[in-house]
Amino acid sequence: MVVDDDDGLRALLRTTFEAVDVDVAEATDTAQAWERIIESRPDAIVLDVSMPGQTGVSFCAALKASPATRDIPVVLLTGSDAADEAIANEAGADAFMLKPFSPLELLAVVERLAGGLHGTPYRVAGTARPDEQLLLYARDLRHLLELERGQRRLLESAYRETVTALASALESKDSGTGEHSQRVHRYAAELAQVVAPELADDESVAYGFVLHDFGKIGIPDSILRKPGPLTATERRVMETHTVLGEQMLSGVTLLQGGGLQVVRSHHERWDGRGYPDGRAGSEIPMAARVFAVADALDAMTSDRPYRSALGWDEAGREILAESGRQFDPVVVDAFTLRENVLRGIREELAAA
Ligand SMILES: [Fe+2]
Repeated sequence: MVVDDDDGLRALLRTTFEAVDVDVAEATDTAQAWERIIESRPDAIVLDVSMPGQTGVSFCAALKASPATRDIPVVLLTGSDAADEAIANEAGADAFMLKPFSPLELLAVVERLAGGLHGTPYRVAGTARPDEQLLLYARDLRHLLELERGQRRLLESAYRETVTALASALESKDSGTGEHSQRVHRYAAELAQVVAPELADDESVAYGFVLHDFGKIGIPDSILRKPGPLTATERRVMETHTVLGEQMLSGVTLLQGGGLQVVRSHHERWDGRGYPDGRAGSEIPMAARVFAVADALDAMTSDRPYRSALGWDEAGREILAESGRQFDPVVVDAFTLRENVLRGIREELAAA
């Protein structure tokens, strides 16, 4: 229960406590406070010292004199006057806080008292503080936001690490290495920055780049690891990894939107002869068009069980030759523009 005649301060205190799921009863003076206490006994009372009518100090003394209310912990909000504090001490308060106070400190004090940790009354150390209560609120808020931001960063990197580990594990099953998804992710992000910068900042798309072949988890090893070319039937089964992946990941919030589009459409071709939907040109989502170039580049420059890798220059020529056929010409132009950067990424990851 907060007892204070200052509407603004009560509103701030209510916000503070409700933020941590503590219910707050309010009273504007001690008469109202008595009524509320009889209705419903609070776990703790935060009480202003100076109020019109009965003061907080005499109210506190009355609470502590009555067997019915003696056990309710009381935190007195005192002014800067040292005399105030001496009187408050005599009134039997369980804690004092000097105004203006840090809301986080008040929360800690109330939680400690409401949790039954009484003992000698104590005064929260008042170091150099700004004079304004609002400034203290702002400072606490900034502190909380920084903590929250740090937590969010931790959570995000945990997600990324989990997803990358999952993709690597999948690839080890597929091709024996776990580096493909890292490389294509980096290539595609670089190309996206040129053709559609908004995609480069879209986390869903980034997860789509990493998990593009997730559906291969549902493809039999006999097909996935076959050392020679696939038969027509085997190829059709293999091609289902796009829709399988989309189905399996459709419940993952992080991949909604761009990410799932990459998973489904990364084998579409600009000329409409790709799969699974045979979409052409701008019908293919941009993220998937970007990814197709990154994926092909990495496939061509990597050894496979049934063929050895092409050199970088030869792979580059292949990509240019497929402009307007397999690939979106705009993305191929971006490849030409950033080819050196992509080559640098490959060397950097090979050295790692
Ligand atoms: Fe694929």
